Amino acid sequence: MSRKTIQEIQSKQGIEKIICLTAYTAPIARLLDEHVDLLLVGDSLGMVLYDYENTLPVTLDQMIEHTKAVMRATSKACVIMDLPFGTYEESKEQALSSSLRAIKETNCSGVKLEGGSLLQETVSYITDRGIPVMGHIGLQPQSIIIDGGYKIKGRDKFEWKKYIDDAVALENAGVFSIVLEGMVEPLAAEITTCIKVPTIGIGASAKCDGQILVTEDMLGLTNISPKFVKQYLDLSRPIQKAIKDYVSDVKSEKFPSIENTYQMKPTIVSKEK
Ligand code: KIV
Repeated sequence: MSRKTIQEIQSKQGIEKIICLTAYTAPIARLLDEHVDLLLVGDSLGMVLYDYENTLPVTLDQMIEHTKAVMRATSKACVIMDLPFGTYEESKEQALSSSLRAIKETNCSGVKLEGGSLLQETVSYITDRGIPVMGHIGLQPQSIIIDGGYKIKGRDKFEWKKYIDDAVALENAGVFSIVLEGMVEPLAAEITTCIKVPTIGIGASAKCDGQILVTEDMLGLTNISPKFVKQYLDLSRPIQKAIKDYVSDVKSEKFPSIENTYQMKPTIVSKEK
């Protein structure tokens, strides 16, 4: 079975929800592959896997290595790689060269970057050169310093125009889809009706064409729990239980048992005549 294409994902719009999750590593990606339309190798990996304070220190090399692992472990989902902070803002040429590295070195299906109207020219430049781009507006984690925190957007209606203009600018620049993060439901609904490309929500209500979550958040493997995250499982408990069992088995010499232990070949004793 071949990988889902961007066109197949777009064709779901208005018919069924587009299912997306993040994946950063081979074991998780392998488990998700057949269940989702799109896997995002998000730069949130900086906080989830590396315990950075925010996503800003993540490098292009890190993103590429994680995307390669996700690509090796999957065959069905469309895989998109986040361009990390500092790898596309300087110039459209810088954005193109980072995107080309992503595509050529990982063979993923496209890149995602954060930003709206200000990036219209950059996004056009990349998409015109054959690279599928996913936009990301609303709460932009890479803007943490300038925003002073992770704030929900659109609570006051006067803010709306900026986000609607951002979405339209990205659509005009040729993005295949836009992530709407951390915004009030009516704004997400308005953007979703204003543009033709599918919107993927995270903390942006069920009014979006699809949803995405950070997989480790929904599995209870992170200690962040914003309101928009539904924790489907608290994996930290069974993991801790298994570790305690292991410690106790090692101490009591229950592990390794005979089944986990190698023995020498049986010696053949020749009979004397
Ligand atoms: O980095 C990331 O994981 C993301 C998603 C949360 C959309 O951008």
